[in-house]
Amino acid sequence: MSAISDSSLAVAADFVLRGARELVTMSAPPAEGLGAIADGALAAKDGVIVWAGREAELPQAVDLAPDGLDIDAEGRCVLPGFVDAHTHVPFAGSRAAEYGERLAGVSYGEILARGGGINVTVEATRQASEEELARLARRRYDSMLRHGTTTAEVKSGYGLTVVDEAKQLRAAATPHALRRELTFLGAHFLPPEYAGRADDFIRLVCDEMIPACAPLARWCDVFCDEGAFTVSQARRVLLAGRAAGLSLRIHADELARSGGSMLAAELGCVSADHLIHATWQEIAAMKAAGVVAVMLPGTSYTLGIEFAPARAFLEAGVTIALASDLNPGTCHCENLQMMISLACQGMKLTPDEALYAATAGGAVALRRDDVGSLEVGKRCDFSVLVAASRTELPYHFGVNLVGHVVLGGRVVVQDGVVTHDAPAPEPVQPFARDASPGAGGTA
Ligand code: NIG
Ligand code: FE
Repeated sequence: MSAISDSSLAVAADFVLRGARELVTMSAPPAEGLGAIADGALAAKDGVIVWAGREAELPQAVDLAPDGLDIDAEGRCVLPGFVDAHTHVPFAGSRAAEYGERLAGVSYGEILARGGGINVTVEATRQASEEELARLARRRYDSMLRHGTTTAEVKSGYGLTVVDEAKQLRAAATPHALRRELTFLGAHFLPPEYAGRADDFIRLVCDEMIPACAPLARWCDVFCDEGAFTVSQARRVLLAGRAAGLSLRIHADELARSGGSMLAAELGCVSADHLIHATWQEIAAMKAAGVVAVMLPGTSYTLGIEFAPARAFLEAGVTIALASDLNPGTCHCENLQMMISLACQGMKLTPDEALYAATAGGAVALRRDDVGSLEVGKRCDFSVLVAASRTELPYHFGVNLVGHVVLGGRVVVQDGVVTHDAPAPEPVQPFARDASPGAGGTA
């Protein structure tokens, strides 16, 4: 299309999307309708949104370059790319066999105690080369993109040695279009060679793993729970992570009410994740400290346990994010659409609350002010659904309702097929790292 405006007030663009029956910008909270624009359009330049509004206003508002891209949503719903704030992508091996056992009544804890569970994944991940882990990660990133995720947090935590944690983080950063936030989770699990010596392992994490891995990550996480690490061990890890320039998040109160959320509030972690056993005390403490609550309903679904009290968090005014927890043990699923559906059914979120948590909420959980909504100045990352209404997502579940995905103003998925062949060019800095020595993001 040639220039569509002769007004000198028109904003210059190299990308236009038109024909959105519903352009859900997420510029307003669920109670105010998510900033949805009927018959919407948007324009971008260099991968960043420069205009969003009603299509009728597009000709006056936007001046599209003659060689710009002009996409027609053909009457479908357009959503911001999902922001998946909690994944464990770079792992090797499968735990399908234990899934069957768990369904037959053997608990997650029992399988772990006899050397199965995470042990199996740690062994397979240590055996895998960095190239193999990167290949597996790229395959999962493709799947995430196809399901509408454009930004994801990605954790290590299946290496549990200095060399293998660093290997996982480098593999996670493999060239790919998906925007990523990398997290060091060396204190995920006590490896068998440290059985009975948890404090020695914590020393290894703080004194050797963190110095080696901090330059490769932005975040430090720890699994603080019954059967994992205690509050005092988790505190040591998080403080060492912070001292190395990492920002903090935590796996908390997933298996038992074990103090992780209170620690998150004490240390001012950016997020506490899982929270199945959080009560009003944990919720109040997190609210006071401004900690984001990351909800992972796919984990409750897979483990057959209760869902986290998402409504109580919302009613207390805590920001919630909805994420996948993609991992081989407790949620083998790349699809945030499924999490939206589960959050509606299991956590009693409204469809709009769930959609907001999977986009704008995820961005808050990752301290990313450049993604999660379709507003001027944000990255041009969105999905065109194969449906006209956003409510189809939780309602028409178990299938992929994402047709096309645009990331940074580039089509990366077309009619469900990944089309990118290289990482997107990055025109702007993704974030200002919190006083840190290394890069860490691949965004
Ligand atoms: O988030 N909670 C800790 N870690 C993962 C499970 C890890 C595994 O079973 O491999 C989780 O649920
Ligand atoms: Fe997790």
